[in-house]
Amino acid sequence: MPASQTVVFVVVLIFSLSGLVHSFQPLFTLDGNSTTHRVITQRAVLRKTAEVCRDIATAAGRDFSLTIDNSLTASKVLRACSSMGSSTSLLSSINFQTSITNMYFSNAKVDVIFVLSDAHHFDDESFERGRDIITSGVSAVKKSVALENYVTGRWTLGCVFHTLQDFYSHSNWVELGETIPYSSLIKPDERLENLAGRSTPTCRNCTGENCADNLLPELMQQGLLTSGYFNPFSSDKPAGKCSHGGTLDRTSRREPVGGINKDTIGSSHGSLHPKAADLAVDATMELLEDIRQAVGDKNFTRLMGLSQSTALCIVIDTTGSMSDDIAEVKRISFDIIDRRRGTQEEPSAYILVPFNDPGFGPLILTTDADVFKANINKLSASGGGDIPELCLSGLQLALTAAPHSSEIFVFTDAPAKDAHLRGTVTALIENSKSVVTFLLTDVLARRRRRDLQGVSTRVVSQLDAQLYRDLARASGGQAIEVSKSDLSQATSIIEDSSASAVVTVFQVVRNPGKPENFTFTVDSSLRNMTVYITGASSLAFTLISSTGVSQSSSQSSGPLASFTTAGNLRRLRLNTENQTGSWEIMVDSNNPYSVKVTGQSSVNFIFNLVEAHEGAHGDFSLMEQRPQSGGNTSVLISVTGSDTVKVTEVKLVDSSGSTEVNGSLQALGSGNFLVTFSKVPAGDFVVRLRGEDSSATSRSTPESFQRQTSTQIKTSSISVTTESNNTNVEPGSSISIPFTVATTTNGVVNDSASGTFTVRANNDRSFTSTSPSTVSITEGSGGKANGTVTLTIPGDAASGTDVTLTIVAENAAATDTNYALIRLSVAAKVTDVNRPVCQEVSTSGICPSSAALCATSQWEFIANLTDGINGTGVDSITIRKGNGTLNTSSATGAGGENVTVVNYSASCCSQNVELNAVDREGNVGTCVGQARATAITAAPVTTAASVTPAAVSTTSSRGHTLSTSHCLLICVVVSLLWK
Ligand SMILES: *[C@@H]1O[C@H](CO)[C@@H](O)[C@H](O)[C@H]1NC(C)=O
Ligand SMILES: *[C@@H]1O[C@H](CO)[C@@H](O)[C@H](O)[C@H]1NC(C)=O
Ligand SMILES: *[C@@H]1O[C@H](CO)[C@@H](O)[C@H](O)[C@H]1NC(C)=O
Repeated sequence: MPASQTVVFVVVLIFSLSGLVHSFQPLFTLDGNSTTHRVITQRAVLRKTAEVCRDIATAAGRDFSLTIDNSLTASKVLRACSSMGSSTSLLSSINFQTSITNMYFSNAKVDVIFVLSDAHHFDDESFERGRDIITSGVSAVKKSVALENYVTGRWTLGCVFHTLQDFYSHSNWVELGETIPYSSLIKPDERLENLAGRSTPTCRNCTGENCADNLLPELMQQGLLTSGYFNPFSSDKPAGKCSHGGTLDRTSRREPVGGINKDTIGSSHGSLHPKAADLAVDATMELLEDIRQAVGDKNFTRLMGLSQSTALCIVIDTTGSMSDDIAEVKRISFDIIDRRRGTQEEPSAYILVPFNDPGFGPLILTTDADVFKANINKLSASGGGDIPELCLSGLQLALTAAPHSSEIFVFTDAPAKDAHLRGTVTALIENSKSVVTFLLTDVLARRRRRDLQGVSTRVVSQLDAQLYRDLARASGGQAIEVSKSDLSQATSIIEDSSASAVVTVFQVVRNPGKPENFTFTVDSSLRNMTVYITGASSLAFTLISSTGVSQSSSQSSGPLASFTTAGNLRRLRLNTENQTGSWEIMVDSNNPYSVKVTGQSSVNFIFNLVEAHEGAHGDFSLMEQRPQSGGNTSVLISVTGSDTVKVTEVKLVDSSGSTEVNGSLQALGSGNFLVTFSKVPAGDFVVRLRGEDSSATSRSTPESFQRQTSTQIKTSSISVTTESNNTNVEPGSSISIPFTVATTTNGVVNDSASGTFTVRANNDRSFTSTSPSTVSITEGSGGKANGTVTLTIPGDAASGTDVTLTIVAENAAATDTNYALIRLSVAAKVTDVNRPVCQEVSTSGICPSSAALCATSQWEFIANLTDGINGTGVDSITIRKGNGTLNTSSATGAGGENVTVVNYSASCCSQNVELNAVDREGNVGTCVGQARATAITAAPVTTAASVTPAAVSTTSSRGHTLSTSHCLLICVVVSLLWK
């Protein structure tokens, strides 16, 4: 066939591959009985996090009464983990749930990105390479944690989970009768024993549909490990080997026919599916335990996203005219830090990005308030002669570093010089769902500024300001325009947003403005309700409560609210006491305005657009670009904060308020819902959710509540897809990322389209990259244009550094854009896979056998720890068990290796010790010692030293979800390709 046709078919093929999911179902299951990667991941994360909290509580002498089982929810774990966790305090599990969600979405992505990679699924007996994927991924996660790059750490971790979990479905580990995870899969220094040889037969034919007995008895007797071969295109497999099985797998039709996977209840070995899924949970927990031991409990809980508070994120212009603003940022952030330190409202992280001219950054990301303070103190206003500054570059850094759904505050008094980053920044806002609020000082004052350091006039035109307003609006934030002298009144918005459990009840933007009446529901879980209205000074409003009380904007203090005005912002503190139900706000303005109603409540929700993959059962993965105009869409919703909440309605509401699309709800358990919409509103829209909470006190009928997303979702008629099969990149290397741009009509690729698109590829680290500046869809190309972005990682980039690359494509008329987003983590090749080893030197002291006498005696344990001559060296030693004291000293071993001599002494009331030694690569070795108790005759004491590596195990499996018609499509495509 002609080359151009081949291209078309290859593209069709690639687009169809995502339907080839062959693992535990990634996110959902329609048989209702099979366990998905989503559920396995959520169970493991909740149980391990609860265990860590239990250990922390026990060590601190606090009670911990939570039962750790598969019924845990994020809210339950968070409540139990909160040291101040009384039932009266306001807790939000939104951050924790968001982190878990991100992990299972990246887990599910492995089925899309690496659909044909045997090693990522432990297919084709690729045990060594599968294990490498796990251990190098774990090493990258530990490095991300060391640099506090938790967002990337979670993403990598979710991918690793997938491969680990698949082992238990795709191998015969379960069939061998194993009941604990295969720990060697997370230990790069252990040999994988008992692998069936390449030429060893492993399976025999199934008996008809019955595959219960198809593994060869010899294999089972010798305890040899194998996994199924899988190939949707060819039936080739080595002689005598097992297949994965299922309709998708052509190898399973060749002798020995049938398969061994346990992906779902209906799979070849489906009766073992529940066992495989349980082992996958245990294995995921072991892997998490290994990471916990390497990074410590505190960093581990941060990685899991177990925080109730938000990050304090500030992006600030530091050019000459900004000294008042800097002083105000200092005042407000120090105030927040000082008043919230040690409380559960203490920010979970601090992010600061200065920008100036010609530079921006560096980004300061820290969990240490004092480090943040020191950096704020260092800010000073200087330079910046020519007016526009690199505002969006600074914002881009903050958006990629901040936890998802953060609130970011940008201070500037100048237009952005880097307006070309608009598409990139918008993509990052939509992807991270972070809210960006601009504090624009003196921007529209057409007058000379105070000219302290010879700074020339800095005037922001309406057009310049519109960029900030547009970005604010896209994110659900506000553009506050205020004089420098009134700034301190406007910054109360920062304080409000950093309070705990802030939720958006209602939000609307009208541009152009028109008089309109809005209603919102006040429920009894809401406290400290605040309404923000931005708009011209002529804007008037009237508020009417559920009981009919009203107050107009001419009263700054009245029965329903008291309010302050700073620049274009009015901030109303509502008095909602005994007035739950439907409230109304009537706005009278013909100029643009926005209304945002917030409060504090545990009840909230997160949403993610998901895209369906065709197939018999159909599954979904996270949608990381704008949904297609005129198409349909699905949203995964997780409601947090109450186990008694019922969702009654989820709507997409377009930003003009003229279109509302009702979704159909499918409950997935534990507060999760899949909502499908038969169409999406044109332009921008938000998600509005209504529900009923039956826990509301003193009510016989359930109480209604409403919540809304902040981020505006935009539709596009362009699609941008990438084929990046890498998540980790080495320093000094280059990575090529092919991408495809297409146009769509009603959600379907328009294969007769043509056109030219502007392409902008940007990364947040300013690493060198090359990309075409345009791509063109030519006639006969099937409506698609391809390009490649090449990114070069500097040789000195530290392992653990993350890079977010956005590829934005815009149509020729500049009226439509869409994007692809790729996260990469820099990880140098792992050279040290060996754990530090422990050699006991002596155990001395004899403890009395009577516990009553223990306090009067001491015992001592001495051991040598070394990472060997080629190791990266012992980095930290911590006591895992035992409450004695630890002293260390350095020595040199017989082979010249560095040795750390540990000397542990404890009271006889604490007779066991377990020490963790972590090397610089994050490998964890364990040292165990035990006191000797008096026997009748006291004997000299020598206990065998034991080195117990952290246990870990893995699970995996695959589900087959290809429909016959889909299979036919692929078969046709394949046979065409072979012509
Ligand atoms: C799921 O489990 C229930 C109860 O155990 C059973 O009645 C039902 O048939 C099962 N469904 C499938 C598809 O296996
Ligand atoms: C834990 O986090 C701190 C920052 O809070 C960091 O300095 C340290 O390196 C981290 N520890 C590990 C082992 O990653
Ligand atoms: C808002 O409601 C008031 C009172 O019900 C009504 O008089 C007014 O016309 C409404 N305004 C709009 C724009 O619908």
